[in-house]
Amino acid sequence: MKPFFVTATGTDIGKTYVTAGIIRAARQAGIDAMGIKPIMSGYNNSNPEASDAGALLAAMGKPVNEQTIAAISPWRFAAPLAPDMAAIRENRSISLRSILTFCRIAAEAAPGLMLVEGVGGAMVPLDNFYTVRDWIAALEIPAILVAGTYLGTISHTLTAVEALQARQVNVNAIVLSESLTSPVPPDETAYAMAKFAPRIPIFTIPRTNNETAFKRLAWALSADELEEGAQRL
Ligand SMILES: Nc1ncnc2c1ncn2[C@@H]1O[C@H](COP(=O)(O)OP(=O)(O)OP(=O)(O)O)[C@@H](O)[C@H]1O
Ligand SMILES: [Mg+2]
Repeated sequence: MKPFFVTATGTDIGKTYVTAGIIRAARQAGIDAMGIKPIMSGYNNSNPEASDAGALLAAMGKPVNEQTIAAISPWRFAAPLAPDMAAIRENRSISLRSILTFCRIAAEAAPGLMLVEGVGGAMVPLDNFYTVRDWIAALEIPAILVAGTYLGTISHTLTAVEALQARQVNVNAIVLSESLTSPVPPDETAYAMAKFAPRIPIFTIPRTNNETAFKRLAWALSADELEEGAQRL
């Protein structure tokens, strides 16, 4: 198994888009890849295909139904809110310990690339004590940080990198998933960002014709290229 945690600078930035794209590209290249989305908020059980877990299952070439969704996403909440708030509305709570067990079992069972999609941004609360950052740190797996290309993303991204590294989380890649509106081309943002994060490879995923970009990213993740690169720098 080769696990990565896919986190982001915020919600709606592109974690699912990027995770599904990596899984698709990897599978097309003959690399085994799977994804899990342990916590989902805003889940509508009458439309599972539209959910994050539904998108990951589709990328894996699996059917989308109640059972397959539950298998990769055990903690589902109706309210489209941060997990702690969504759980409270259903008189439930999120046990980080149970989530860690679920992730570890899934990772051990995965023969190839294994992507854990987080929820919201890197420091979204899971309950009164823990955030997504604690979840990643406890799993002790490298993170892929998904960020946008909108005006302001450089500060948001570097702040998230600092927050993750402060807890000894290795950020093995930054993926700039092109936002709806960007002040400059994604590569220019990547170049500007790289000066302040020289040890972290930065990938860009344009909004169109991005098959090759996903292939490159999938290959880098599966081929240990990122860890070796980080050691060399
Ligand atoms: N590079 C891109 N090209 C085209 N569309 C994109 C790209 N990145 C993100 N999107 C679109 O932006 C929207 C938000 O992306 P996505 O659902 O992947 O975010 P997320 O980080 O997974 O959000 P959440 O916090 O809800 O899990 C989606 O409609 C997605 O298809
Ligand atoms: Mg998502």
